[in-house]
Amino acid sequence: MKKKTKYNVAVVGAGVVGVEMIRCLKKRNFPIGALKVFARSNREMDVDGEKYQVEAISEDGFNGIDIALFAGTEGEKGAAVTFAKAAVKKGAVVIDNGADFRMDPNVPLVVPEVNAKDIKKHKGIIANPNCSTVQMVVALAPIYKKVGIKRVVVTTLQASSGAGKQAVEQLSREITQVAAANYKNINVNLEDRAMPQQLGFNVFPQIGGFAECDFTSEEWKLVKETHKIMGDKKIKVSATTVRVPVRTGHSESIYIETNKPIAPDKVRNLLSKSAGIIVIDEPKKGLYPMPKDAEGKYEVFVGRIRRDPFVKNGLWLWVVADNLLKGAALNAVQIAEYLIAK
Ligand SMILES: NC(=O)c1ccc[n+]([C@@H]2O[C@H](COP(=O)([O-])OP(=O)(O)OC[C@H]3O[C@@H](n4cnc5c(N)ncnc54)[C@H](OP(=O)(O)O)[C@@H]3O)[C@@H](O)[C@H]2O)c1
Repeated sequence: MKKKTKYNVAVVGAGVVGVEMIRCLKKRNFPIGALKVFARSNREMDVDGEKYQVEAISEDGFNGIDIALFAGTEGEKGAAVTFAKAAVKKGAVVIDNGADFRMDPNVPLVVPEVNAKDIKKHKGIIANPNCSTVQMVVALAPIYKKVGIKRVVVTTLQASSGAGKQAVEQLSREITQVAAANYKNINVNLEDRAMPQQLGFNVFPQIGGFAECDFTSEEWKLVKETHKIMGDKKIKVSATTVRVPVRTGHSESIYIETNKPIAPDKVRNLLSKSAGIIVIDEPKKGLYPMPKDAEGKYEVFVGRIRRDPFVKNGLWLWVVADNLLKGAALNAVQIAEYLIAK
């Protein structure tokens, strides 16, 4: 990207990720010339007391844009499929948060702490991984580089905001409804659900649709995206993804088998020195990562590091991060920072 003192930036999507992108750009003093916010309709939006004009998206809206951060919906009629290539033609570099381009061999899939070197291979579009993949690879990459990892078994506990602003609203409505009924009936009957099940006072093991071998699309993202980011298709990744009644902050219970032995203390030490990670691991004092503490933070938090007493080279980790920040908006802004630093 041509070096400039200021860059014209577009944020596509004014949902939960789009808002965090605006906050990250501002907090990290990204050198912005003009900032445009696109969604499906024109309106004004308030972010932390500041007013932003949201414009209905159009190809011409990308005239003069240097970097376009996409956080619209995915799929055939979604923002990225409809407008990303047009934005590139107009001269922008697109950083996309959705799944549409992640597995395209011409599109680097990047978590800067792990594979920043791939950014320079871009041909106009760079993809941000899925939120559950980002925090997992940030925690695992230093261990992988040190001793190798042959197997990963992960169960995710994913917050409502991972499914967008309507899912956050669904959770709030359900919690309020059950509380108003004095907890006599914990089953609520909402017709306009953003998620496939009730989430208030509930958890459900389905994120995305059911796909190959009865795993969900979200579970396959953890497999395929990990392989692409780490550049190693031999790692055996197996996942169960669960939606839990948390507003923001995904937690992951991760079991790994390393190639060479490594003691839990060495892992603590290694991860403490690794970029973007904070180790909180004093369980007897009640100190371990929790989503309520990770909300609003940039880092990936790791705790409960322990050896499997029954399996050689087996280790458990508990990994928590803000899905809207490191899992989405922050990771995209970090990629943009690399682009302009080049
Ligand atoms: N939430 C997370 O934790 C997370 C993490 C990683 C990746 N992602 C990905 O990030 C993207 C955004 O997610 P989100 O959670 O912020 O969703 P969201 O809260 O539902 O917001 C979606 C936004 O996209 C806009 N939009 C939808 N279709 C559009 C189109 N065709 N053109 C322009 N704008 C369009 C919507 O516009 P209106 O407001 O006008 O309806 C809305 O502002 C998704 O691709 C998602 O998969 C999300």
